[in-house]
Amino acid sequence: MRRVDYDQEQHRHYARGRALTERQRQVWIDAFAAVLPERRPLNGLDVGSGTGRFTPALAEAFGPVVGVDPSVRMREVAQEQSRHPDVRYLAGSAEEMPVPSGSADYALMFLAWHHVQDKPRAARELARVLRPGGRLLLRANFRDHHPRPWWLEHFERGFEIDAGLFQPLHEVIETFTSAGWRVAHFGTVVQPSSGTREEVLQRLRLRTLSFFSQLTPEALEEGFQRLERAVAADPGAPAPEFSDTLLTLERQ
Ligand SMILES: C[S@@+](CC[C@H](N)C(=O)[O-])C[C@H]1O[C@@H](n2cnc3c(N)ncnc32)[C@H](O)[C@@H]1O
Repeated sequence: MRRVDYDQEQHRHYARGRALTERQRQVWIDAFAAVLPERRPLNGLDVGSGTGRFTPALAEAFGPVVGVDPSVRMREVAQEQSRHPDVRYLAGSAEEMPVPSGSADYALMFLAWHHVQDKPRAARELARVLRPGGRLLLRANFRDHHPRPWWLEHFERGFEIDAGLFQPLHEVIETFTSAGWRVAHFGTVVQPSSGTREEVLQRLRLRTLSFFSQLTPEALEEGFQRLERAVAADPGAPAPEFSDTLLTLERQ
């Protein structure tokens, strides 16, 4: 995978390009609640918090959250987007967390794991910052459980290139179990439609997906032309919902 530096690309348009509907955000919060303890408050970490798509919603649902992200620009956008009294954003990474040992009840990593450079180190560091029994909600894609978004087929070798960004599930599990974690749950969450196909196309044009950073300018241009023709045939049709994977790990 070509490494994506969020300080150089994506930060400006990420919040718009990857916007969630309120319904989508709620579906995720409900999915997280289903694998977290019922007591409140819970101290949370949003690791790779980006522009804070989930951070304030986690604080509302569960209690105080620290958003951790290596990108200065993504953290700046997160802070501008929303100021929540129970949210703090700090510089750091999954490999080097700026919080004390055993200080969190759970950590969320939402589409950030594939960016982590030193995965064994991150698995150990995440175990350090959670309490025993604490849970890591790993919302990641896996090469062998790819959600196959409908628009990907319009880009040449789109599926192959996108799936190649992610590890197979067993490899991720192996990294965590070697660092003292156990698998608590693995399931899928049905993410409701993001709107019409035309609305999704408008957001895709902002290119806030690592997939687009892997393509040549020519492949990008051709892919978008094909996708635009396909969408023009029925722009108001609702974009399909997705089945997304959520792996829950428990620190022993
Ligand atoms: C696709 S964005 C996801 C942001 C947010 N979780 C969301 O769902 O909108 C990936 C984020 O991971 C961050 N990131 C990159 N390397 C990281 C690492 N080693 N540890 C934690 N986060 C990292 C990036 O800076 C970026 O903000």
